[in-house]
Amino acid sequence: ILRMTDLDLAGKRVLIRQDLNVPVDDGRVSSDQRITASLPTLRHALDAGAAVMVMSHLGRPREGVWSEADSLAPVAARLSELLGREVPLVRNYLDGVDVAPGQLVLLENCRMNPGEGKDDETLAKRYAALCDVFVMDAFGTAHRAQASTHGVIRQAKQAAGGPLLMAELDALAKALDKPARPLLAIVAGSKVSTKLELLSSLVGKVDQLIVGGGIANTFIAAMGHGVGKSLYEPDLIDTAKKIMADARARGADIPVPTDVVVAREFKADSPASIKPVDRVADDDLILDIGPETASRYALMIEDARTVVWNGPVGVFEFEAFGRGTETLAHAIAESDAFSIAGGGDTLAAIDKYGIADDVGYISTGGGAFLEFLEGKELPAVAALRARG
Ligand code: 3PG
Repeated sequence: ILRMTDLDLAGKRVLIRQDLNVPVDDGRVSSDQRITASLPTLRHALDAGAAVMVMSHLGRPREGVWSEADSLAPVAARLSELLGREVPLVRNYLDGVDVAPGQLVLLENCRMNPGEGKDDETLAKRYAALCDVFVMDAFGTAHRAQASTHGVIRQAKQAAGGPLLMAELDALAKALDKPARPLLAIVAGSKVSTKLELLSSLVGKVDQLIVGGGIANTFIAAMGHGVGKSLYEPDLIDTAKKIMADARARGADIPVPTDVVVAREFKADSPASIKPVDRVADDDLILDIGPETASRYALMIEDARTVVWNGPVGVFEFEAFGRGTETLAHAIAESDAFSIAGGGDTLAAIDKYGIADDVGYISTGGGAFLEFLEGKELPAVAALRARG
């Protein structure tokens, strides 16, 4: 893949696709991680003397209509603060953009453009006509084959991977292509069904696979234990058994909790109790792994050389059910292993336990991070590779 940092951008019109799809609350950006992550790329292009146009989507608006709720205006405001310069938001840009070298503008939500979602070639050509160089830096959207992520790469005079995208790909390759072993993955979340492909693909790669949340509950049920009223998927018990058998056959270990934290209700103040995993009552809800399990997992993390983390192992938003996630977060922070973490909830946990500086790499991708871990080629990355 051609890298943006290898190009001479002086005087060039550079269109940079970022993933600035950030949460907006009451007209203000409530978490600016993705904006912050894009800054080095934008500064590099500006310092190199490029005329910079930044493009992103926000949410999933209807194409063909402008709506204030889906406008990138809050992102432009935050970007202006972070860059320390006014970032104009350009609403109509498909026929050309007025931007000079050393200037930077933000183009309005590209998902408002008709044809964006279905990777329309005419729209991709119009994006391409805006610039001399198209830079794909939106790792978080690289799993979408859309006009601004995939189509334009094929149409642009020159297309390159941006520093953020390349850093993400480099970190993922380090964790998965030739990882230092043992390689341990933590996959947690509410449903086995949404992470089935991920679990199946990781079983062939990892030495240990720690499961958490509703996923772990299905595995606990597959071991023949009762899970009470806990979230789990009875239909997937056989699948969980097969994943465990596959793992055993490949010499990988999927540990299951020996103790859990339960409550009667899904509420922050619902009294919590710790129980052995085979003593869960019919009206119990499993909301976290127990302390004995958390310590055992922490030791595994200590021995690992590579850790991939996606998903908190308990309901960490509630103080009483966050100990498991907190223990694993600190184990990751203290471990010498190369660690990579991704996904919205995981990033929130990293923030809450203050370990951001101690994680090897924090991905800006949610769906893209998962698809990469599943072993899928991301369409935008494939298009960049095809251009050489
Ligand atoms: C994300 O937040 O995962 C990306 O920005 C992609 O958004 P999408 O799922 O709406 O395509």
